[in-house]
Amino acid sequence: MSQAPAPAHIPHHVAIIMDGNGRWAKQRGLPRIEGHRRGVETVRTTTFAARDLGVKMLTLYAFSVENWKRPQDEVGALMGLLEYYLKKELETFVRDRVRLRTIGRTEEMPASIQKLLRATMEETKQFTDYTLVLALNYGARSEIVDAARAYASAVAAGKEKLNDGSWQSFSRYLYTADMPDPDLVIRTSGETRISNFLLMQAAYAEFVFTPVLWPDFTKADLAAAIAEFAKRERRFGLTSEQLKPTATSK
Ligand code: IPE
Ligand code: IPE
Ligand code: MG
Repeated sequence: MSQAPAPAHIPHHVAIIMDGNGRWAKQRGLPRIEGHRRGVETVRTTTFAARDLGVKMLTLYAFSVENWKRPQDEVGALMGLLEYYLKKELETFVRDRVRLRTIGRTEEMPASIQKLLRATMEETKQFTDYTLVLALNYGARSEIVDAARAYASAVAAGKEKLNDGSWQSFSRYLYTADMPDPDLVIRTSGETRISNFLLMQAAYAEFVFTPVLWPDFTKADLAAAIAEFAKRERRFGLTSEQLKPTATSK
């Protein structure tokens, strides 16, 4: 890749809304689940592609709180695929030093999946160089509700002082407590919405929307999104001049 951005422009944390599995299958006259099956392959390749490109944390939106409302057979098939994926990947994660963690109401996921998640997280917790975060039964609104509840209990228990309330102290109650915010959020399949994903954490993320359907998403597509990110100027509320102080600007 001749146009690879300089390391300083590589996003530390990339989060992806993996969308378009159903349409990928439909275009081929296949059942939706076939799209999900191919989507799992893309999860695998993207996990390693991101690391190769210098990313340190990859969050994948795998199942939203709203996705339970899909037809039951599709939900069942998705859970089956997730179980299959986790069983198969444990060995790979250990061999390739990938730390796994999750965000979302995972306590509402099927027990067999919770067990696999716990085992995988335990076995990979020492691999701090690269982290794969699966958003499972995740919704930003549920996350805020859960955080507000936990924060209120902490205040009631005297562990937090209400008047000290700051984003810094409140954000410790989010699922993402010890994670850096995403620098780059990518959504595949041409949809340009956020669908209840990391609403607070993406406050200053750069967004890249690509028409590519998730099963077709490649390392080159990820590299292109990162190259687009590298061209952006993240101002965080400041002026461009403030970000690039020159000898005369003071
Ligand atoms: C994304 O693909 C996978 C999940 C939401 C689990 P979709 O299943 O949403 O695919 P489309 O949007 O119907 O094409
Ligand atoms: C978002 O995709 C959720 C995941 C990628 C897991 P959806 O396909 O569920 O989102 P909408 O319904 O198009 O907003
Ligand atoms: Mg979709």
